[in-house]
Amino acid sequence: MGERRKIVLAYSGGLDTSVAIHWLRERYDAEVATLTIDLGANAELDEARERALAIGAVRADVYDAREEFIRDYVWPALQAGALYEGVYPLATALGRPLIAKHLVRIAREEGAFAIAHGCTGKGNDQVRFDVSAAALAPELKVLAPAREWGMGRDQEIVYARERDIPLKLSGASAYSVDENLWGRSVEAGDLEDPWKEPPEAAYEWTASAANAPDEPRYVEVGFEEGVPVSLDGEQVGALELVQQMHEAAGAHGVGRIDHIENRLVGIKSREVYEAPAAAALSAAHRALEGMVLTKDQARFKERMAMEYADLVYNGLWFSAHRLDLDAYVRSTQQFVTGTVRLRLHKGSATAVGRRSDAALYRHDLATYDEGDAFDHRASEGFISIYGLPVRTQARIQGKGVEGA
Ligand code: ARG
Repeated sequence: MGERRKIVLAYSGGLDTSVAIHWLRERYDAEVATLTIDLGANAELDEARERALAIGAVRADVYDAREEFIRDYVWPALQAGALYEGVYPLATALGRPLIAKHLVRIAREEGAFAIAHGCTGKGNDQVRFDVSAAALAPELKVLAPAREWGMGRDQEIVYARERDIPLKLSGASAYSVDENLWGRSVEAGDLEDPWKEPPEAAYEWTASAANAPDEPRYVEVGFEEGVPVSLDGEQVGALELVQQMHEAAGAHGVGRIDHIENRLVGIKSREVYEAPAAAALSAAHRALEGMVLTKDQARFKERMAMEYADLVYNGLWFSAHRLDLDAYVRSTQQFVTGTVRLRLHKGSATAVGRRSDAALYRHDLATYDEGDAFDHRASEGFISIYGLPVRTQARIQGKGVEGA
């Protein structure tokens, strides 16, 4: 066709991906289209679009995927209770497959031979992009300039200056930051010393507990089948709900996480996160599950949660395994409908009240007061059988059971 080959690049507007537009054009003698996905980070997206075109992109899309992100990625992870290594709500890890999906969409529209991203060769994000693309479009190549070019930040700046690439250099931030609606990840700089307490400058979304208001704030979160749908009795859309919870919880210092994390590529890294909405909504969701799931369901789901978190973290969002787990999780959420009252105070989000029409908590069974419907005498027979193996062992093997 005589047309030049095309590459679709995930473009953040920052240094790496700005340099990448130029580098890919030269290296592959190709045209570069950029895609900037809005996942709720407060970057200036129109400015990024202008910059991409100025650097020589033939097409520069900005796409608002915030609703889709919450609905199709964040809610399923919340329902699953997925926290990587028990603490990280997976904001970045959930965003990558969504971005990959839209890169593939544009690549197909453009007949591109490759998609590209700005990830380095050291992190998890490259794996998430590459493996997601492999699942969705095995015919597409995935290019990662920053994995190949061997330039550090200063060399990239020189490269850009020599080629008149317009840059917007954020006053050399001490950290490497990735943000979206569900959380903010902060790494590098002085955080690389795991002994050092993260300085206040690492945090932007949350108040320190010390500076948070002395008065607690109470919020009622309403759920329908495991999805948050209302705040303080008002139905709100998904996006607004996350944003409102972000503000409320962040102001009370909720959602700071300091984690030594096991990356997929084998290294441990010190990661600091701020995820006020995720922390608060996770606490509320868990509290409601406590009311409606049986003990067996809750125990088993806990194991699934870890599996789900590992899978998301490890870049396997687009996999049959994830769909299988989703089917299980969805089934568990059938009765996760009700309301939780959270107390946000000095760095913690605590469920202090919960109610549901489907609650398995029954006052008449639980009460020590009048109206007790529990059959106390039945316990005797129950314990007799339950304790049978213990009595048998004690009788036959004697002191063997006491240890010491
Ligand atoms: N460690 C987190 C993860 O693997 C956050 C990564 C943030 N990415 C970044 N490019 N700064 O999901």
